[in-house]
Amino acid sequence: MTGEHPIPNAHGPFDITVDGRPIPVEPGQTIGAAMIAAGLRSWRTTRFAGRPRGLFCGIGVCFDCLVTVDGTTSLRACLVVARAGDEVTTS
Ligand code: FES
Repeated sequence: MTGEHPIPNAHGPFDITVDGRPIPVEPGQTIGAAMIAAGLRSWRTTRFAGRPRGLFCGIGVCFDCLVTVDGTTSLRACLVVARAGDEVTTS
């Protein structure tokens, strides 16, 4: 045990940015949950039909919620626990 709390920033709310816009996050919240709580409903579109996509299954199965976090592409927002200062970009 390293003494580090398993939930990043467990001591209180913090912000991340989504396409440069700050949004609040509660400790332990996933990036997808924070985006929904901030009113974001879709953040990417399907390749051919251009249909909106965002959080759908919420459990890592559908891949509809893909985002880029701190330069790492194709992460499922519903599975990634937010950390203070995360910079999220959408496609
Ligand atoms: S919402 Fe389905 S994988 Fe994230």
